[in-house]
Amino acid sequence: MTSTNEIRRSFLDYFGSHGHEVVPSAPLVPYNDPTLMFTNAGMVPFKNVFTGLETRDTPRATSSQKCVRAGGKHNDLDNVGYTARHHTFFEMLGNFSFGDYFKEQAITHAWTLLTREWGLPKDKLLVTVYHTDDEAFGLWQKIAGLSEDRIIRIATKDNFWAMGDDGPCGPCSEIFYDHGPDIWGGPPGSPEEDGDRFIEIWNLVFMQFEQTAGEITGNLPHPSIDTGMGLERIAAVMQGQHDNYDIDTFRALIAASEALTGVKAEGAHRASHRVIADHLRSSSFLLADGVLPSNEGRGYVLRRIMRRAMRHAHLLGAKEPLIHRLVPALITEMGAAYPELGRARALIEEVLEREETRFRQTLANGLKLLDEATLGLGEGAALPGETAFKLYDTFGFPYDLTEDALRARGISVDRDGFDAAMAQQKAAARAAWKGSGQTADGEVWFDIAERVGATEFTGYTATTGEAQVVALVIDGREAIEARAGEAVTVITNQTPFYGESGGQQGDTGTIAAAGLAIAVSDTQKPLGKLHAHIGVIEEGTIRVGDVVRLAIDQTRRDALRANHSATHLLHQALRNRLGGHVTQKGSQVAAERLRFDFSQPVALTNEDIAVVEAEVNAQIRGNSPVTTRLMTPDEAIEAGAMALFGEKYGDEVRVLTMGTTGAGGTGAGAYSLELCGGTHVRALGDIGVFRIVSESAVSSGVRRIEALTGEGARSWLVAREEALKHTASLLRTTPDDVEARVAALLDERRKLERELAEAKKALALGGGTGGAVSADEDIGGIKFAGQVLDGLDPKELRGLLDQAKQRLESGVAVIIAVNDGKASIAAAVTDDLTGKVSAVDLVRAGVAALGGKGGGGRPDMAQGGGPDGASAAAALDAVRAVMAG
Ligand code: ALA
Repeated sequence: MTSTNEIRRSFLDYFGSHGHEVVPSAPLVPYNDPTLMFTNAGMVPFKNVFTGLETRDTPRATSSQKCVRAGGKHNDLDNVGYTARHHTFFEMLGNFSFGDYFKEQAITHAWTLLTREWGLPKDKLLVTVYHTDDEAFGLWQKIAGLSEDRIIRIATKDNFWAMGDDGPCGPCSEIFYDHGPDIWGGPPGSPEEDGDRFIEIWNLVFMQFEQTAGEITGNLPHPSIDTGMGLERIAAVMQGQHDNYDIDTFRALIAASEALTGVKAEGAHRASHRVIADHLRSSSFLLADGVLPSNEGRGYVLRRIMRRAMRHAHLLGAKEPLIHRLVPALITEMGAAYPELGRARALIEEVLEREETRFRQTLANGLKLLDEATLGLGEGAALPGETAFKLYDTFGFPYDLTEDALRARGISVDRDGFDAAMAQQKAAARAAWKGSGQTADGEVWFDIAERVGATEFTGYTATTGEAQVVALVIDGREAIEARAGEAVTVITNQTPFYGESGGQQGDTGTIAAAGLAIAVSDTQKPLGKLHAHIGVIEEGTIRVGDVVRLAIDQTRRDALRANHSATHLLHQALRNRLGGHVTQKGSQVAAERLRFDFSQPVALTNEDIAVVEAEVNAQIRGNSPVTTRLMTPDEAIEAGAMALFGEKYGDEVRVLTMGTTGAGGTGAGAYSLELCGGTHVRALGDIGVFRIVSESAVSSGVRRIEALTGEGARSWLVAREEALKHTASLLRTTPDDVEARVAALLDERRKLERELAEAKKALALGGGTGGAVSADEDIGGIKFAGQVLDGLDPKELRGLLDQAKQRLESGVAVIIAVNDGKASIAAAVTDDLTGKVSAVDLVRAGVAALGGKGGGGRPDMAQGGGPDGASAAAALDAVRAVMAG
């Protein structure tokens, strides 16, 4: 028997040896087509090559492409498990020519591979062509020697293949395999074509046209070839099976689920095992390609698939989560061809187990409700839509799961009723929002969110991506287009732009398409679910429905990532240093710096700051990877995550783990665990360096730290270093000696000040000779010595007056020191005279004359001052007048 893995290899080898580049499968999330939910055909990664937007070095390629068909145009979910050939995940083998060979060689290759290389009997094969394609008809006659009755003309769109409503398309020719008369069915185009006897195994598409919104809008630059062969189908043929689920890969997976559940894949249980095997493949591959379960977009399709499998595990009687335990079997079967499975194994197992644990909590209750609600319903009846909605809303049953659960009993679900109940809930939410006092212009966001749903954020991993414009807002109102020069807010179905939230600023960047350029200056997140790109159109016109290319400013985002991750480390370091009372009171993560407010009653000491900063830097140097997991809020708090009180969380949160405990971040435990929707570095070393630049009070009990990381911190440190160097050069020394040099200068300065004061005093006193001392006067029989000394330091007044008193023996001395236009006055009275004259009275009179107020001291010694130094002589006269009585 030829194994599925051998068939894949042999296909790629055949085309590889015929000049085709063997290209690895592209991820399931198309990077080049925002209108497509998942890669659903082998040609998807080459779409832009067919249309001429992109060029390749090689004009031929071959691949085995991972495909998911669930949600969107090609949706196979409902039938999977109950039919022989429906899958949510399958592999498409294909060969491609980009303007190189066309119909003739495509047909030659297909025929050679099938009949010569693989030895399929010619009489088991027949083909179809598009009814007007005489050329293909003739080629099949010529190359394969098929008789006319084995080349069937088909007029329907079965023989006109299109990837979606937009993109390349063309007529096609399909190759069918006849599984023999034991199986009911007729050839394509016959009334019995829906039977299972004749199975399409290979589709050759003659790519010629491009279509937009379902209408052909032009020719491709070159006629090209796209082919697709379902690997599971050809494996069934080559392994002598009729049913895809009987090929080796599926048998192995089903055997594994039989072994784990102890239930044979027979009778009613057969479908359950098939659902599990198929959904195990799609879930695991989607998880490996970065899709995580959520309630929006791709994540919701994944969740629907996972939960459908989990209900079937429940039907098989599984008492514990089952699906994740099948991952090793899947890796054994497919891990060699798709190494991404092995790489993502831990993540795949963890997410599957968590989802199943969670879902099991409500599954039994939901099924009970479903049983009760359908008690009286017989075959052909419909479950009320409201019940289906309740199952969805309260028990997490996706709509199609409810449908699937009732399928065996022939009961359908009232879809309209379900939609009406959903609409009613949304209306209630809007009414509640209106009542909450929000401004009216915000209502535009409500309209948009209701119509288009949440924006899918791709920016945890991507920095660029394509997207479809789903709404435009100009001046608070919706518009269908916006032109050059206009300020516009653009909403797309998906985006790598982070919308400002959780303290992290929104991204900036560009939105572009042919002839269109928009500079995005900010991204906001109205209603917490739309990403609103705010910008100005620099060139061109943008319209709702356009496909555009989004690119964020990566350098800025890298700085935002570094600052955000550093904020988490800072939070933990503060708790370690100051205590568990430290909790976040607010934060602002900008590209230039981070700001973190936290509860703390007193200022941090220099040592606190140094220790915190050193600890954060040690974690950064530890360079451990940052990990993100999705959990329920309760699980996260149980795991030890710091919950931010007052924040609202959805039913799922991102839990960020970073760093390791132990000295220098070498231990095994996580250093920091926080709930956070922001964007972060991949490993802590990406932060570079962390520097606290300020610590201050915000309000009572709340302190604020501002800090820098990476390039911001580096340039800050460089600026400091430059200032030091400049200072050193001013001081004519080296940076290392600046401190000693400054200390010496300060000493010298103190000494000089002392010397200067001495010199001034000496100068004031007339060069130290006493010659400037005025002659003593006699006023009313009392000896009086009065002097005005320019430039005398007022501190010297008392000393000089003491000297004067000694000299006078009995008398009064008054000195006025004038400095910078201001005057200080002091008076001294010898003890024998204090009964007659008070120094205080004398000073007060002098002060008044100097334009000042007050003055005071004791009767023997008093002091004061005034602004008017020019009146010093008059002040002395005023003193004399007081003495004269
Ligand atoms: N793109 C073609 C298909 O998916 C080959 O059938």
